[in-house]
Amino acid sequence: MAEDPKQTERPSTRQFLSSQGFDEDMAKKGKELVNQFYIFMKTAQIHDPTNVALETPVENVIRTLKGLWQWSDDVHLRLEGDYLFLDELKLKMDMDGFISFTSLIETLKQLRIGGILLKKSATTDELKRFVYILVQTDPGGKEPFERVIEQMKKMGIANIEIDPFEERKESFEDILRDAKEIAKSTYFRTMTAVAEVMDNIKLGQAVSVKRAKRVVQSMVDLLLQEESTLLGLTTLRSHDEYTHHHSVNVCILSLAMGQRLGYPKKKLTELGVAALFHDMGKASISPEILNKPTDFTEEEWQIMRRHPILGVKYIIKLKGINEMTIRMVTGIFEHHLNYDLSGYPKLDTKWELSLLGRIISIVDCYDALTSSRVYNRVPYPPDKALKFMLNKSGRAFDPVLMKIFINSIGILPIGTMVLLDTGEIGVVIQSSSNPERMDRPKVKVIVDPSGKEVDGDIVDLTELNEKAGQYRLNIQKVIDSTKYKIDVSQYFL
Ligand SMILES: [Fe+2]
Ligand SMILES: [Fe+2]
Repeated sequence: MAEDPKQTERPSTRQFLSSQGFDEDMAKKGKELVNQFYIFMKTAQIHDPTNVALETPVENVIRTLKGLWQWSDDVHLRLEGDYLFLDELKLKMDMDGFISFTSLIETLKQLRIGGILLKKSATTDELKRFVYILVQTDPGGKEPFERVIEQMKKMGIANIEIDPFEERKESFEDILRDAKEIAKSTYFRTMTAVAEVMDNIKLGQAVSVKRAKRVVQSMVDLLLQEESTLLGLTTLRSHDEYTHHHSVNVCILSLAMGQRLGYPKKKLTELGVAALFHDMGKASISPEILNKPTDFTEEEWQIMRRHPILGVKYIIKLKGINEMTIRMVTGIFEHHLNYDLSGYPKLDTKWELSLLGRIISIVDCYDALTSSRVYNRVPYPPDKALKFMLNKSGRAFDPVLMKIFINSIGILPIGTMVLLDTGEIGVVIQSSSNPERMDRPKVKVIVDPSGKEVDGDIVDLTELNEKAGQYRLNIQKVIDSTKYKIDVSQYFL
């Protein structure tokens, strides 16, 4: 008797492996590959192929590839839309990987490459030649993909293949889902743009902020539709990338304020770019000082206090100085000056602070307080930071702008953790739908009354109880997320 096919059907190898945590492992290796490939390309950009500096990056890529070749003879890294895939597995971009991901995606798109197939038989030498072709092909010329193929043939690369990039057709669902994704990718693209400018300053290379200006423009566009997502992303923190996150956060928060001030689009872009580069002067301060875990010595303070002036120096070196640059320069120069003109740089002439400077100094202080520059400092929760700053309103900060700032981020800013009267804990994910009840934002429940972390509902605290006509849920108190060791940024990623 023939066997029942259903009975004999076994789970596919793929399903089996997946159940064994294979996907997780592969995703991890995939991320490693992207990261190492990026470092390899970066190194190849500055060194010639015989340089010893190349050895470690090449070895790292090969080691990861060998790990992947254990599972399959071909490793296929593909680009689909704005995502990288390893075979069929979508690689999730995370905090430490964003620069490698976005840079590699950008390079591939520019060269019109949609995938790289690395066969098990590929040699180290082939890989090296391939990477040099990638970094040396001018993406600006005609048909870059064809030129890469041609070079690969010429160089005798037989075990690496590339596919052409195909523009993805978007479905309606894609567009809807993408609004949030676009906000995220804009955040990371802006971070990459800052990193790039800062790196160029460090290397003493020519600096252009064209790309940065473009990303700020897309941020301004997004602000109108996805403000809460963007504000939510300002809760992202990383000690290693402190300056970059801080720059993007200051940019987003300044834009939110500029919008409340009724700025037109052009002015918003100007404010955003100035905010994004307010700490540009830190590019030439050594990381040992910048990341010092203990207090600065007087000498180190002196170096730190120079960054507004250094920032001005870099900005005016940029090409195409115009009125916009001049206003930006002023804002950057002033960002550590207080409303009463104390602070630094020390002034010995009469001075009137610009609006840009006054805005940036407020959001700069708020972001610095709510994040931790160094490992050992516990950041302030949003409500405490606001209280602290309100106390200094009128002396350190422009009191009117301070009010507008609170108005734009809310008295319970996005990312604040609250205890509800049901015993649940939630995170503020969107400001109140009723501008008169700013104390009743939208909250996502993340801990149930028993103390278990949950992926709970989003509740609108302005909602009324049907029968009694009272609010359905109330905030009992604001809680300090740092004490609970909960990383609230995960709810916005
Ligand atoms: Fe600064
Ligand atoms: Fe700053």
